[in-house]
Amino acid sequence: MSEGPPASQEGAFTRVMRHYAWRHRWSFAAGFFFLWLTNQLSVEIPIQIGAAIDALSKNQRQDALVPVLAVAAMGVGVIVVRTLSRSLIFNPGRDVEYELRADLFQRLLRLRADFYAGRTTGDLVNRASGDLTFARVLVGFGIMQVVNVSLALVLTGWKMLSISPWLTVLSVIPVVLAMGVVQLSVQKVMDLHRARQQQLGEMSDHVLGSFQGIATIQGFVAEDRFLERFSTHNEGLFKTSMVASVLGALAFPALLLAGSVAVYVVLAVGGPMAVRGELSVGDVAAFATLLGLLLPPLRSMGWMLSVVKRGQASLERIFEILDAPIASPEGPDPVRLPKGLAPGLRLRGLSFAYPDDPDHPVLQDLDLDIAPGQVVGVFGRTGSGKSTLLRVLARVFDPPAGSLTVRLGAVEADLCTVALEDWRAQVAVAPQRPFLFSDSIRDNVSLADDPDPADVARAVRLAALQPDLEAFPAGLDTVVGQRGIMLSGGQRQRVALARALFRKDARLLLLDDVLSAVDHETEQRLVASLSAGGGARPTTLIVSHRVSALRHADLIVVLEEGRIVDRGRHDTLVAKEGVYRDTFLAQRPDDHLPAPAGVDGPGAP
Ligand SMILES: Nc1ncnc2c1ncn2[C@@H]1O[C@H](COP(=O)(O)OP(=O)(O)OP(=O)(O)O)[C@@H](O)[C@H]1O
Ligand SMILES: [Mg+2]
Repeated sequence: MSEGPPASQEGAFTRVMRHYAWRHRWSFAAGFFFLWLTNQLSVEIPIQIGAAIDALSKNQRQDALVPVLAVAAMGVGVIVVRTLSRSLIFNPGRDVEYELRADLFQRLLRLRADFYAGRTTGDLVNRASGDLTFARVLVGFGIMQVVNVSLALVLTGWKMLSISPWLTVLSVIPVVLAMGVVQLSVQKVMDLHRARQQQLGEMSDHVLGSFQGIATIQGFVAEDRFLERFSTHNEGLFKTSMVASVLGALAFPALLLAGSVAVYVVLAVGGPMAVRGELSVGDVAAFATLLGLLLPPLRSMGWMLSVVKRGQASLERIFEILDAPIASPEGPDPVRLPKGLAPGLRLRGLSFAYPDDPDHPVLQDLDLDIAPGQVVGVFGRTGSGKSTLLRVLARVFDPPAGSLTVRLGAVEADLCTVALEDWRAQVAVAPQRPFLFSDSIRDNVSLADDPDPADVARAVRLAALQPDLEAFPAGLDTVVGQRGIMLSGGQRQRVALARALFRKDARLLLLDDVLSAVDHETEQRLVASLSAGGGARPTTLIVSHRVSALRHADLIVVLEEGRIVDRGRHDTLVAKEGVYRDTFLAQRPDDHLPAPAGVDGPGAP
């Protein structure tokens, strides 16, 4: 797989030719040669027919034999070279489609959250399927047709000129007029095609969303509303397609009419010329046959132009993705990180807003020092920015330059200047809303082809997933269904936790609310095991709504509306007024509650 072509100012078509089609030049060249041969043979046939007619009209049967045999041989020859030319030109089209698709997927895998924030799945799927097909048709069929039509026009035109220049000029006039009409309609086809592909993307997205949320739609009896929205999309698409096909269809009758007028001209003008002896009957017959040869390429020209325009519009949509910048503030010479050490982190005045909502800072002015191997609890009400903080630390989104420094052994660097792949290798994330693939639990935990069973077992044990596995007949081989639909919410979270813990080389663990679905005891055990491990333990951030989960943390930060409003150890925070203490009191297990007044209390009788 290549890196894809460099972005540049040249048009989409030029780029695809230079960076994708050029390596197939010999196949194209051979194809063009056979295309030329096809046309050469095709225009020779009418000449031989003319010669045969002339010989027969002079009653020279012997002389007619050679041209008749030649016509038969050429007919067979045309079939062979025509087939060869097509396969030699169409096959590179398929190769180009294959290579473009590979580059596209590779690019999509590397593009980051800021790219995906503004796009819908339907649109991307459509670019990777429909638009690629149009691009292939342009590179294979489109190019073949352009060369074929040009060759046919030049070779046939030349033969016609050599028979009678006057007749040629007269018969070409109606065709030129019709071409003007075709050109007008084709201009519009490209715009319509672009609009259609966009509408198709929107509709695909609506359909995908509907299928994913089918249970919600049915549960809330919202079928009519979704059908209505679908109909709006469908109608829009229908109208655009209709206009495009009417415009396309306009070209066909215009050229057909021009063809008929041209034949009429040949008979009306050529007939009397033959009578006057300026041309032979065979010449007129050859001329009429040549004109007949000219008409199919002319007729297909309108269609061919729309294939070219459609293909160009689709190529532009594909290059939009291939050219999408991969945000990399680290520049061309990023800082490389040593492996195997737990990072220390220093946040200074860190503020962050999501790219699609830049005026609403979600994190504001955070100052925080995290030592290597420290276990830090992040606490705060819903919407206070906990998950966002973890996303910024994981560089799903980049922090502003200068606000986050990472320290690893002797290396100290602004996180933005660190090689993204090195950082990702350091970090293991268990997100709040984990995504599971429709694979086995083992594959979901390891995301690798041949994981070490001991590593999987360790991760499963640490994540308290073992009891769940025992309940599944297939254990680790249980396939979880699309997006993990066959698992409970808590099981899904524990699989995601195991996935994070499986990455034993990762030295920064970011656990976003993964403990909410485990019981109290398991939670305590897990945090205790993370807090143990001495100098080898990873730096860990645990987000939780449950204060009990954080009581073993080395440090707890309390977030409110994106700001750190408090920090300290559990005991310190519990002793202070504030949201942490309030939550602690509210979440206190029953046995800690003061005995209700009137029962064994001082006031009892
Ligand atoms: N992708 C996003 N684009 C724009 N805004 C977002 C995005 N994700 C979250 N937000 C906004 O950022 C703010 C903080 O969200 P965040 O998910 O960090 O909260 P949280 O503390 O993790 O809450 P919870 O406890 O409910 O998980 C919210 O106001 C939310 O609307
Ligand atoms: Mg969250």
